Amino acid sequence: MTEILHVRDVTVRFGGVYAVQNVDLRINNGELIGFIGPNGAGKTTLMRVITGIVQPQSGRVFLQGVDITDKATHLRIRAGLALAQQIVQPLRALTLLDNVAIACGSDKTRHALKSMWVTDIRSERAQARELLARVGLSHVVDELPGTMPLGYLKRLEVARALALNPRLLLLDEPLAGLSQKEAASLADLIATLNADGQTILLIEHNLREVMRICPTLYVQDNGKSLAFGKTDQVMSDPNVRNAYLGVGHA
Ligand SMILES: Nc1ncnc2c1ncn2[C@@H]1O[C@H](COP(=O)(O)OP(=O)(O)O)[C@@H](O)[C@H]1O
Ligand SMILES: [Mg+2]
Repeated sequence: MTEILHVRDVTVRFGGVYAVQNVDLRINNGELIGFIGPNGAGKTTLMRVITGIVQPQSGRVFLQGVDITDKATHLRIRAGLALAQQIVQPLRALTLLDNVAIACGSDKTRHALKSMWVTDIRSERAQARELLARVGLSHVVDELPGTMPLGYLKRLEVARALALNPRLLLLDEPLAGLSQKEAASLADLIATLNADGQTILLIEHNLREVMRICPTLYVQDNGKSLAFGKTDQVMSDPNVRNAYLGVGHA
């Protein structure tokens, strides 16, 4: 199997607090890994180390075998990373279609001079239409984000991330704030994307949905790796149970 991501012995300290401590994580091509852990476990911080928003005190991050630890975020995106953020941030004045079309055209608009030549976004719109269909939003492509329910905006965020054609899709709590029905339906979509070949690292609090769709779990607690492996094995691990019950914490 081809290795897509390798986080090697990463440590992040904020003041005296270890947000992430000596963490190792490997993701192979085609995997869907659920990344869980109690609040404050350092999940978002590790995600930020992967995307380059937070620089680790020590350790390295490799994407498809290339050391990206010192690379800026936009270069990591070019190298194959995309992140759907926990807080959705669509461009409010643009339709759903154009929100995705802009992400499809990021290759062009990345270069200031080249972007001056971009007067025709028909091909980006066609691509955006396909992506919105993939996430189940065909019927609302011409609507503005402000009129859409949160469940749709989360799908829009996923479509925008997919527009970058990522080798690895990072999702930070996509189900947060959704009703049980919306959450189950978005989880189904995530599982479908994975079945179609998309490699995904899914941070999620909704254990029920994570356990339902993720074959593999990675658990972090207090900044440290607690467990990694098959979902049922990890969930029956006493250390994981203790972490979730709040037992055994200093
Ligand atoms: N930018 C920051 N500055 C200072 N402390 C931070 C920062 N980001 C996170 N932390 C701390 O690091 C720890 C892990 O936080 P976080 O990565 O957000 O956990 P999680 O996403 O698992 O809830 C917490 O103690 C949090 O307060
Ligand atoms: Mg978080």
